[in-house]
Amino acid sequence: MDRPSREAFLAVVRDGRLVARGMPSFEELGESELADIRQYLRSEARKLRAAQAGAGEVRRASAPP
Ligand code: HEM
Repeated sequence: MDRPSREAFLAVVRDGRLVARGMPSFEELGESELADIRQYLRSEARKLRAAQAGAGEVRRASAPP
């Protein structure tokens, strides 16, 4: 993930960009808490991507020739 998506994350989670759509803002969180949460989400997303890539390979491997 690059800098624009860090800024998008902060806009939503810290600044309340999506409050009107039902996503609360967490203004009380500090820089390091926000960074920790973002890195946790990134690591979970990485795991999901890896699992999905693996599942795709299994499907391809078991498909008829
Ligand atoms: C630390 C906790 C949370 C984090 C880090 C977080 C993060 C995010 C992020 C990054 C998005 C944007 C997703 C996107 O654009 O694809 C989002 C959307 C959303 N979040 Fe959260 N969220 C948190 C807690 C909550 C809670 C407690 C609620 C509800 C009580 C909530 C409700 C929503 C909703 C409804 C949206 C979709 C808004 C839309 O329609 O665009 N979130 N959240």
